[in-house]
Amino acid sequence: MSRLLVRDLAQVATPAGATAPLRGAALREVDVVEDAYVLVHDGTIEAVGRMGDLGSLGEEVEELDGRGLSAIPGLVDCHTHPAFAGDRANEFALRARGATYEELLAAGGGILSTTRATRAAGDAALVEIVARHRDAMLAHGTTTFEGKSGYGLDRDTELAQLEAVREAGGVPTWLGAHAVPPEHPDADAYVDWAVEHVLPDAARIAVAADVFVERGTFDVEQARRYLLACREAGLVLRIHGDQLSEIGAVPLAIELGARSIDHLEATGPEGVAALASSDIVGVLLPVAALYLGRPMPPGRALVDAGAAIALATDFNPGSAFCESLPVVCTLACTQLRLTPEEALAACTVNAAHVLGLADRGRIAAGHRADLVLLDAPDWRHLAYHLAGDVVRTVIREGRVVHSRA
Ligand code: NIG
Ligand code: FE
Repeated sequence: MSRLLVRDLAQVATPAGATAPLRGAALREVDVVEDAYVLVHDGTIEAVGRMGDLGSLGEEVEELDGRGLSAIPGLVDCHTHPAFAGDRANEFALRARGATYEELLAAGGGILSTTRATRAAGDAALVEIVARHRDAMLAHGTTTFEGKSGYGLDRDTELAQLEAVREAGGVPTWLGAHAVPPEHPDADAYVDWAVEHVLPDAARIAVAADVFVERGTFDVEQARRYLLACREAGLVLRIHGDQLSEIGAVPLAIELGARSIDHLEATGPEGVAALASSDIVGVLLPVAALYLGRPMPPGRALVDAGAAIALATDFNPGSAFCESLPVVCTLACTQLRLTPEEALAACTVNAAHVLGLADRGRIAAGHRADLVLLDAPDWRHLAYHLAGDVVRTVIREGRVVHSRA
């Protein structure tokens, strides 16, 4: 039995309410307690309140000084691609000279170049790589992360990526349909092969399945076939959709009852309205739009229409080489026109909902004790301080797992 008291915090800020996902006006409601404490018992939040109301705790309580700091829930990154080897610095430079993401992929680069490096890396290296990226995310306040496969595109490497994510404590998603590897004649043949030869084992490790619906990768027909088989195998469905072009990913997500559709940079008013009247979460990835120099997803329109949204980094070596959810929050407020309150809910409680985790995303009694202590007396510095060193201390399951001097 161990107890931790985080005391004298300038603020504790948490999305209000007790349900998920939040949408509409509820997405903007943040409860703020000033001059506050958080009491943790065995990895779970026992109580939150004002210092003045803190009774006597007896002995055997470890204390953490929160003076000048604000506490928010541990951040949840519900969309990352951390299981990759090598890098794409050269493609980054080529894009700076005018090459496009689609051209590089069509020429056998992009995702396929990372696939070559990842296949060559070996299982042990992948475990080390994902753990390293997890630690980098943690330093930015991410206490729960989802991690996708999708850079193996052969049986053994796909499974090794999923295992590496699981071993690092992440939530694994099988992105079996990310691109068509060169040993298969076309996307149809690849989908058939992957469903027959990889899905049975992938479904034992992964929580969800994902597919890149786009011109040049998988069309709606192929994605439907892949996702139906994945649903049959018990996986939650997610879609990379409307990133570069709008080719029917939103209607497909609705038809199949997907948990989320992620990207939405190219989504028009009809797609926004359709999502708003569904239970699907729109996962917005503003770093990918920024990094590829593309239009931002319609964040404000989605929220105003009543859609449930989440925010994530999309951390990957090609379109979003960035581990920082605080940076994502800044982009959400400056580019997607969300409020700091909406941004907070989108990368905590709503992101946890995308991952099917009801025990985190809020600072409330009974929740997992995942906390970020920000180096500022106002929690809104999370988004306000662009790429600032704003994360002071990270607590995961009641233990300090990262601390900056
Ligand atoms: O979400 N667009 C598809 N997948 C990733 C990028 C993967 C890569 O370029 O390596 C994304 O942007
Ligand atoms: Fe992605």
